[in-house]
Amino acid sequence: MNEVTDEWWKSAVIYELAPISFQDSNGDGRGDLPGLFSRIEYLAWLGVDALWLTPIYNSPFRDFGYDISDFRSVDRTFGSLDDMDRLIARLHELNIKLILDLVPNHTSCDHEWFVESRASRDNPKADWYIWTEPAETGGPPNNWLSRFGGSAWQWCDARGQYYYHSFLVEQPDLNWRNPDLRAAIADVMRFWLDRGIDGFRVDASAVLIKDHLLRDNPPAPQAEDKPPPQRFTPVFTDDRPETMQCIEFIRETIDRYDSRLLCGEVQGKTDRIGHFYGTERPRLHLPLNFALLDCDWDVLALQAAIDAYMNALPKGGWPVWVIGGHDKQRIASSIGQAAMRTLAMLLMTLKGTPFFFMGDEIGRERVHIPDDRIDDPFEKLVKGYGLCRDPERAPMRWDDSPAGGFTTGTPWLPLEKDGARNIEQQRRDERSILHLFRSLIAVRRKHRALQRGEYHPVRARHNILAFKRSLDQSELLIVLNIAAEPRRFEGDCRGNVLLSTHPDRSPPTVEPASVLLRANEGVIIELERPGGPAGAATAQ
Ligand code: NOJ
Repeated sequence: MNEVTDEWWKSAVIYELAPISFQDSNGDGRGDLPGLFSRIEYLAWLGVDALWLTPIYNSPFRDFGYDISDFRSVDRTFGSLDDMDRLIARLHELNIKLILDLVPNHTSCDHEWFVESRASRDNPKADWYIWTEPAETGGPPNNWLSRFGGSAWQWCDARGQYYYHSFLVEQPDLNWRNPDLRAAIADVMRFWLDRGIDGFRVDASAVLIKDHLLRDNPPAPQAEDKPPPQRFTPVFTDDRPETMQCIEFIRETIDRYDSRLLCGEVQGKTDRIGHFYGTERPRLHLPLNFALLDCDWDVLALQAAIDAYMNALPKGGWPVWVIGGHDKQRIASSIGQAAMRTLAMLLMTLKGTPFFFMGDEIGRERVHIPDDRIDDPFEKLVKGYGLCRDPERAPMRWDDSPAGGFTTGTPWLPLEKDGARNIEQQRRDERSILHLFRSLIAVRRKHRALQRGEYHPVRARHNILAFKRSLDQSELLIVLNIAAEPRRFEGDCRGNVLLSTHPDRSPPTVEPASVLLRANEGVIIELERPGGPAGAATAQ
């Protein structure tokens, strides 16, 4: 096996991109593939190695395209299969990989599979979804809740049965116990893999199988403080052991192709993540890890989150770090712009594959969406708990014009009124966070120790987070001041500063036995005398 090409994803920086919000080419206010094509130059300039696209398939778009009505198509909003082929070819010319979303848990109710399945109890696809009888007393068979509110069971007159939906009523769950359904999903995967895509991100990978006894979920602790769908602990609907066999099946399908990546959505606590790598049979290459997003911006919390995650990895499991996504609140809004720069350095220097979401590279914050423009069903159906995901999904801001250079029409979601934070302006300003992201990606590419090197935490105090990355004779020290005031790190720092979060660092060097960092400053130092064990250090 050629480690470098087959496991390209270990060294890659991966950029999540929602095509609907990236670039519109035809003035309908919704982004599309030709629009994305026209912005490839930007992605190449930024230096990302792979794109993960949120769904581009036919969809009524009740859930941001995660309600798919034909897995083997490109929705007309986005263009055509030819556009997709052109995109794959151009990206590959530029050495950029393409990952698509695979949504194996559910379809849209408009998918022909469901139309057939719901028609009768004895059609060829009758068992492709999760159908069941009412409870003895009538009504839904148990207390399972949809994540989008209300019972997860929906009555169907034609069959005189209920069907199960983890998400919207219009998103029926597929029955992964049915071998024909599994084979059909494998066909869908091959359809895209044969077109040359480089991998999939598996949506909702933890919920593919539900308890066959349909046992009730127990009430959650402190349930009354939680949004209604979270008031029961999903013991019998999430993380069932059989789900892992489904992931193994998906992995076997992708492993028939060379050098493809399988990553997947795993929500929840770090200690669950290990299962998703697999033991005897491989599962996901990269179960997405949101620990940095779930963590307070505090050195002790960060150290603990990093350590807990690293320790939760099984032998051979490759780490992955995510700082943004289409379901996640923009982190720049919670930690602020100064800390966002430090976080960017942390993301690009930790051991593991970094993922960020379009707009993170300009420090995009949550965009205010007026009530009458809300699109997200989560907010419409579970109102008042701050669950709306539209503020992160607003179209990209390429310039400071009202529509941000995104469209000549009316953007499908509004952009922020103050357009000062935009790509054009930040490309011109070498001190911008955009340039910092770009430089970090470039330093990471140049220094293999940052891509593949071992991670050694360094003991540090007073709000400084420090660690080393080492590979062969190369050793790098990363020192990040998490405090909003200057701090001195003491320890062996002899070497060259490769990059600071503060581009005006002057002089750009450090002292041999310490480094004085300004508020929120981080530095990457290439140590002069590599080889020694990661030493102790203090800060004051
Ligand atoms: C997970 C996706 O990331 C999310 O956006 C979507 O709402 C759910 N799956 C349901 O499709």
